[in-house]
Amino acid sequence: MVESLLLKPLELIENNFRRPSGFAGGLVGHLMAIQHRTLTEWAIEQMRIQLGDHVLDVGCGGGMAIKLMAAKASHGLVAGVDYSPEMIVQASGRNAAAVARGRVQVKLGNAMELPFSDDSFDVVSAIETLYFWPDYMQGLTEAHRVLRPGGRVAITLEMSREAAANPTLVQKYFGRRFTERSERAGLHILSGAELTAMLTEAGFREARFVSEPSKSLGWVCALATKP
Ligand SMILES: C[S@@+](CC[C@H](N)C(=O)[O-])C[C@H]1O[C@@H](n2cnc3c(N)ncnc32)[C@H](O)[C@@H]1O
Repeated sequence: MVESLLLKPLELIENNFRRPSGFAGGLVGHLMAIQHRTLTEWAIEQMRIQLGDHVLDVGCGGGMAIKLMAAKASHGLVAGVDYSPEMIVQASGRNAAAVARGRVQVKLGNAMELPFSDDSFDVVSAIETLYFWPDYMQGLTEAHRVLRPGGRVAITLEMSREAAANPTLVQKYFGRRFTERSERAGLHILSGAELTAMLTEAGFREARFVSEPSKSLGWVCALATKP
């Protein structure tokens, strides 16, 4: 706690986006639920979730996406997984009624080794989390393993190379500095084409991406199907 208070504020926020922990992590979880709301709604539109679908949200943070997904999969099931115990508490609280009814499950676990059986889900989503995974291919291979044949994966990022082609003023003067800083901290800023290439390499078919280059720092959602 004392140590985290001594960190510079921006660093503290960045560390807690990567892996929320302690009091600051709890606050950042609530902040993300607000800040990522429109991105999440857009990503969920791309997923075309059906009433009876079983959906997994990897890196679920405070569980706002789970709540929105559960409203779509109203006859199905939504699971969330995150490696931050604080986020598991927050996501469970945000979805308490659905958890009690058995329609939402929230589990502590790692994207590198998902705590679910093979062929369990119709949709696997990961919103604003892939940059933090130590091995992207391992995470995508895990997503592929837990999807049923015909199931869809959706990888969504708020910061991408899609913004670079025709940057807005905010992207040019603020965004570029921020993404450069993020890259120095070890985050790779990816393009839609790089994401689709990785999905294909992980065994998915029909990989494609949609983007909103002028939103935030270049929204991108890469989609594909398990054969
Ligand atoms: C920037 S937050 C995004 C949270 C949420 N998806 C949203 O859009 O608000 C990234 C989340 O991914 C989680 N995360 C990062 N790496 C992970 C991993 N290897 N396994 C599980 N969760 C991970 C973090 O704990 C954090 O909650």
